[in-house]
Amino acid sequence: MIIIKKEDISKLTSKYKNNGLSIVFTNGCFDLLHSGHLDLLRRASEFGDKLIVGLNSDVSVKKLKGRSRPIENESVRSNNLLDKSFVDDVIIFNEITPKKLIEQIIPNVLVKGGDYKKEEIVGYNNVTKNGGVVRIVPLTPGFSTTLIINKSNR
Ligand code: CTP
Repeated sequence: MIIIKKEDISKLTSKYKNNGLSIVFTNGCFDLLHSGHLDLLRRASEFGDKLIVGLNSDVSVKKLKGRSRPIENESVRSNNLLDKSFVDDVIIFNEITPKKLIEQIIPNVLVKGGDYKKEEIVGYNNVTKNGGVVRIVPLTPGFSTTLIINKSNR
């Protein structure tokens, strides 16, 4: 299990692909890892052989979720993910969306948690035109990082 630098992504993905292993990709901030995150990651890992998680960098979490976030920095968030047996690799990315990362990885399965139409998901075109599939996993109700922060502020 490794944290990958962007420039090594092609080495990692060709190693997997040359060994006939399918790649599942999902992404997010994963700040204060909770049961909703873990359910998503476990289910995602079951769609293929290797689960690569695209992790929003601290800079991009701030842009997405506000100045007070993340609570845990990208190094802590990466290591918490990599501690889980169903996560194989973590790639930290700086952009707001994982579009470029997905174009580099070209996963066999792109997974997103939530209530989306598949066609709306960033990376949908890239993945499907390369023969991959997009899977949507329903959110586990009652869990979010925001909720944990709000509870602890009470
Ligand atoms: N997720 C999930 N079930 C939940 C909460 C999140 O499946 N109950 C999924 C999201 O759909 C996303 C991934 O976990 O694919 C990472 O979500 P993230 O935004 O990092 O987590 P949240 O807890 O939703 O964060 P916040 O409350 O800060 O918005």
